Amino acid sequence: MPRWVPLALLIATMPCSLASPTTSSLNKRDLDEPISPPYYPAPNGGWVAKWADAYEKAHAVVSNLTLAEKVNLTTGTGIYMGPCAGQTGSVPRFGIPSICLHDSPLGVRNTDHNTAFPPGITVGATFDKSLMYERGVALGEEARGKGVNVLLGPSVGPMGRKPRGGRNWEGFGFDPVLQGVGAAETIKGMQSTGAIACIKHLIGNEQEMHRMSSVITQGYSSNIDDRTLHEFYLWPFAEGVRAEVGSVMIAYNDVNKSACSHNSKLINGILKDELGFQGFVVTDWLAHLGGVSSALAGLDMSMPGDGAIPLFGDSYWGPELSRSVLNGTVPTERLNDMATRILAVWFKMGQDQDYPLPNFSSNTEHEKGPLYPGALISPIGVVNQFVNVQGSHNTTARAVARDAVTLLKNEGDLLPLKRNNSLKIFGTDAGPDPQGLNSCADKGCNRGVLTMGWGSGTSKLPYLITPQEAIANISSTAEFYITDSFPSSVEANDEDIAIVFINSDSGENFITVDGNPGDRKSSGLHAWHNGDDLVKAAAERFSQVVVVIHTVGPIILEEWIDLDPVKAVLIAHLPGQEAGYSLTDILFGDHSPSGHIPYTIPYQESNYPSSVGLLQQPFGQIQDDYTEGLYIDYRHFLKEDIKPRYPFGHGLSYTSFGYSNPSLSIVTPLDSVYPPARAAKGQTPTYPNTIPPASEAAWPSNFKGIWRYIYPYLDNPASDAAVANSSKTYPYPDGYSTTPKPAPRAGGAEGGNPALWDVAFSVKVTVRNTGRRPGRAVAQLYVELPGSLGLDTPSRQLRQFEKTKILEPGASEVLTLDITRKDVSVWDIVVQDWKTVVGGEGVKIYVGESVLDERVECEVGGQCSIL
Ligand code: NOJ
Repeated sequence: MPRWVPLALLIATMPCSLASPTTSSLNKRDLDEPISPPYYPAPNGGWVAKWADAYEKAHAVVSNLTLAEKVNLTTGTGIYMGPCAGQTGSVPRFGIPSICLHDSPLGVRNTDHNTAFPPGITVGATFDKSLMYERGVALGEEARGKGVNVLLGPSVGPMGRKPRGGRNWEGFGFDPVLQGVGAAETIKGMQSTGAIACIKHLIGNEQEMHRMSSVITQGYSSNIDDRTLHEFYLWPFAEGVRAEVGSVMIAYNDVNKSACSHNSKLINGILKDELGFQGFVVTDWLAHLGGVSSALAGLDMSMPGDGAIPLFGDSYWGPELSRSVLNGTVPTERLNDMATRILAVWFKMGQDQDYPLPNFSSNTEHEKGPLYPGALISPIGVVNQFVNVQGSHNTTARAVARDAVTLLKNEGDLLPLKRNNSLKIFGTDAGPDPQGLNSCADKGCNRGVLTMGWGSGTSKLPYLITPQEAIANISSTAEFYITDSFPSSVEANDEDIAIVFINSDSGENFITVDGNPGDRKSSGLHAWHNGDDLVKAAAERFSQVVVVIHTVGPIILEEWIDLDPVKAVLIAHLPGQEAGYSLTDILFGDHSPSGHIPYTIPYQESNYPSSVGLLQQPFGQIQDDYTEGLYIDYRHFLKEDIKPRYPFGHGLSYTSFGYSNPSLSIVTPLDSVYPPARAAKGQTPTYPNTIPPASEAAWPSNFKGIWRYIYPYLDNPASDAAVANSSKTYPYPDGYSTTPKPAPRAGGAEGGNPALWDVAFSVKVTVRNTGRRPGRAVAQLYVELPGSLGLDTPSRQLRQFEKTKILEPGASEVLTLDITRKDVSVWDIVVQDWKTVVGGEGVKIYVGESVLDERVECEVGGQCSIL
């Protein structure tokens, strides 16, 4: 049987009685001609017990809000109309401020006295759950300290489908479980401080070019079949919802030909019904493309509020949402649910209790400035209070960057260096930005050490410890050549060690750097600034070369990796403000490297499937068909039997580890193919869902507005209300209905049926430090699902990982790796549920230090053995 049977084919060959019920999610046309089936009405929030208090409080308030007040909560006040990336209207009568939504996933963007943490890809490379959580707490504390209500992260979409994709570095790696754990720990950490997390971008935002519509093109359509969606791209979102994330950001692009912001199947069906999401759904910025359509499809908040042309204060919502409720087009129930969801999140995080108001402005560095910079004429006031929110977060930032450093090769144990080694350092990537710290907006340049990619996923560096500075602190004799052209004058002695710094950058589409419009279009997967030549030149002169790489993702090393002098190679990922010290901690042996690459490094780009290349098209809409299905990154390399240069999860240490005493125990027996039936949905808040009086949307008397500010009011609400009783009808989308759908069987709680997270098996293994230096090991658990499931499935899938504490030589630790029912299930497109094999029969489990470095094998029902 071929690896990938098109789902269209599978369904077409099924008996009609079985195939027909699946059309709610996927049908024959899914791959031939992608469609996103209708799913209405929007499920109301509030049926999950853990949210009961918050929903009760929200209900008490919403019951007393006017139409305009409710709308005010749903709509941003307009681009550049406040201190944050976006803010909602407020409800002063109930003490509800404008809710501030602001970037980024790695720190508070465009402000001062913050911490610039390492981004997601670096966090993923640590494979350290505690650090993921600790960084989340620190992010939340900084957001709270600055008065940011909703910090726009973590990012788990893109997922790294396209190695050249511009924003892969904002997420945790090219694997759904690594992304899911990274997201869940970050969310739990952030929200423990009262800040609201926003997991993004749902879904299929895998390349930057053409993500948005322009006058001549429409944002691309990511055409994803149902199984691939569930088993790969949706997985981390499900983990985020299970971690009780407060908000979800919708992507710019279409999924299966329906824009994410009004895709009823995606929001109503999958996110709110199947995953049981209780928070609110917000657009990406200016991703709002339709008023009524998005409201019906389950969108709850429009950011930054503007309509198609963000210049004149028009909006798809704001007054238009008031109008469409008054004239009966959008059910009042839907608006009540939007407002209730938003306030429930606000109450759940305790933001009604002394949560600070924004004390910064992302628009200016000055103390005073316009309060509404987007208005031509704006009152001036104090906008920056320069509040220092850093605490001791530099320690966390350094620990993450250090524990991510990944040693790819270390011939003859050249590393760690000795403090008295004779060092010559090359490359601008070792030094500062010659034009100054933060000299280009949103890091839209690649000068000096690469600490993060560019775009909205950034923050300013409050300071930067460069590798040059950190090395100079340790080695008084080190010589620095902060240039990317190898200096001809350099003398090399036999004992000299050259350290060459190179990098590869990418970012968000609104900035193009050196011909790379976000995606690595012109650089490809090669080092920037002729980095390969620099390494080769150093290798011609020196007999010992160490290469340090700062990179957003996979990078091709082939021009020099096998040269004899290139003894050691480190990937330091994107280290944030602590670039220098986190590296010297490793280079000079204060810590052993313990990072592992969260993606595969190939020999050449053609090793990837052709379907994951960047797509460009001058007119119309790109159809981006996910024909490779689940076979992304290592899954593809294994299936095609392509040897990678370095496999997913690879990372050496200065010491070595032995694995012993593996055992597997059954915790919750898998005694059914599908999970036990879900619980029924609980009650949701009820309101009188009659159309409110027109007067509730009228301008308040003597109201003086700010030009371009988006208000919820209408000039003549009575005439809009009159339409409700007229014969005028709205052309509702096909399949529109106000009758709630039966609860999906795969749902039942946040994330899905809670039985999916029952621990089915628990693997224990002893990891011993068998070398001569202290170090930390990462045990990675991969599953191989049995053919009896009847589906073509990747031969290895990461399902769990654990990292030891620092083990002294000879010391050991017993690691426990739990595997859930979901971990050993596939998504059954016919039944629309997760399917496993009873007893887990035939499931194989491997534990190792990369996807190819297996140390332990266990067969369910059989023995575990050391490999
Ligand atoms: C667009 C980006 O895609 C998103 O990630 C970001 O949060 C918003 N802009 C706000 O800056």
